[in-house]
Amino acid sequence: MNKLKWWQTAVFYQIYPRSFADGNGDGIGDFKGMIEKLDYLQALGVTALWLSPHYPSPMWDCGYDISDYEAVAPEYGTLEDFDRFLQAAHARGLHVLLDLVLNHTSDQHPWFLESKSGRNNPKADWYIWMDSPFPSGEGPGGEGVPPNNWQSCFDGPAWTYVPERGQYYYHYFMKQQPDLNWRNPHVKAAMWKMVRFWLERGVDGFRLDAIGTIYEDPALTPHRVPLDLAGLRHLADTAQTPAEKKRLARYWQEMFRYQWGGPGLHDLMKELRALVDEYPGDRLLVGEDDNIDYMGNGDDELHLVFNFPLMRTERLTPGWVRKNQAERLARLDALPTRGWPCNTLGNHDSPRLRTRYGDGLHDLQLARLHLALLLTLRGTPFLYNGEEIGMTDLLITDPSNLRDTMATWYYRALVEDLGVPPAEAALRAGRMSRDKNRTPMQWRNAPNGGFCPPEATPWLPVNPNYAEGVNVEEQDADPASLLNFYRRMLAVRQATPALVEGEYRPVHERARTYLAFLRQTASQTVLVILNDSNRRRRLDFSSLSPRPGRLIFSSQEGAPATCDLGRLDIAGFEARLIELF
Ligand code: GLC
Repeated sequence: MNKLKWWQTAVFYQIYPRSFADGNGDGIGDFKGMIEKLDYLQALGVTALWLSPHYPSPMWDCGYDISDYEAVAPEYGTLEDFDRFLQAAHARGLHVLLDLVLNHTSDQHPWFLESKSGRNNPKADWYIWMDSPFPSGEGPGGEGVPPNNWQSCFDGPAWTYVPERGQYYYHYFMKQQPDLNWRNPHVKAAMWKMVRFWLERGVDGFRLDAIGTIYEDPALTPHRVPLDLAGLRHLADTAQTPAEKKRLARYWQEMFRYQWGGPGLHDLMKELRALVDEYPGDRLLVGEDDNIDYMGNGDDELHLVFNFPLMRTERLTPGWVRKNQAERLARLDALPTRGWPCNTLGNHDSPRLRTRYGDGLHDLQLARLHLALLLTLRGTPFLYNGEEIGMTDLLITDPSNLRDTMATWYYRALVEDLGVPPAEAALRAGRMSRDKNRTPMQWRNAPNGGFCPPEATPWLPVNPNYAEGVNVEEQDADPASLLNFYRRMLAVRQATPALVEGEYRPVHERARTYLAFLRQTASQTVLVILNDSNRRRRLDFSSLSPRPGRLIFSSQEGAPATCDLGRLDIAGFEARLIELF
């Protein structure tokens, strides 16, 4: 496996710093806590970490609104703590990616405070400022109307008026996250300086936040959806018929299409890639985007983009996965320098894997099956903290407990603008909020799930199911637990070259209730069978080889060590891996 880079053989684990481990007992995760858990992560078998933002921030968007790019949020620790963390991670062979938020800063960042102070300061052009097309207007502050009808994807209009300048600034996300003007060379220079700051400290690369939003349509073309954001979200909650759902999908696409992927991004990514390549150690760039175009020729822009289309479904059926793989791999293979895949089934923005893809009856079996899928598909997998113990979404129904500003905004819009009764609005806001999948890690069956001391108040409520076995300590001691399943599967993947570097070849492509594929190198062929139903079945793979196969792994106890390919008895929801000869 020598020719592969570290990030091609890696399994990544996303740490959400605020919720991972509280080392100082204030109810908020921190670097001290993360350092204490590095042994746990190493023993789990992951080889690389991605940290969601750890920078100082007013926390309107939980750290994705950065007010100082070259420091550490005081509640998480100090720069020295960060350095200790990085060193301790490296000492255990764990690579570390940081979250790089390029599109926007916090509205409390000194750059923005200066920029908004008037039209003639040195940073006046660091953000996207526009006049109103009808300046004499009747807006609430006498400010006229916004430059166009663009919406923020988080909280209403994408333009916010600043009286000091008599102008609007643009924000794709919430108004506390003004978009930087990347067409200004000084912005670029300041951001590249910051990138070097972290590279010089030794980080192994970056996950590029919302990278497609950097450049908008320079003509500011208005969208043509007859709704605003609240109306669209309302439709998303209430659409029932296929026609309504189709309309909804079209509207989502239409509403934001001029705010994404504007000209210039390829050049920018090339520039960033060249910068990162100046440093030794194959530093990595992973885009929070599914657009393979941002990989350039496969070797001159981003190293990886996420295969988000895989997770955009309520059920990971065999047909869905096959189609996804056929499309993605063909596109990656077509790049002049062949592209490498990157798969994930969950992160801090999406419902938890066990909740999302469960059927309410076999959730834990499905969680195992889906991990097996993620670790056997071709490409680098990303896991999300808490997934390994089967953490579930926690529905927060009291709006005062919500911390995700997108959801508090939605609650208000539902009640005040759309006249939805408060109890129903609270439920709907809780469901759309990302808090549900960001609750603190459950370490023990103890008050606050062992995340923080009993007397501390965790920053988000802890899911009470820590008392029902969803915690690390109890699962650690139980060989049959999900946690130990994760450990076994991770070990098997790392010990099986075909699973890391092998080609993917689907077999039995018409099967509707199980997924079967080969992973193949010149010297090893592995057959992967994932039974997506609770029915035991007998399968015949004798056309693949006349010889018996060797069992590499089964999620089921008692699977025979030697497998007769003509008569394979596969249990309900079993994941079975067989080496072929
Ligand atoms: C990305 C992050 C998300 C954040 C947004 C704005 O999508 O994953 O959490 O709110 O960007 O930075």
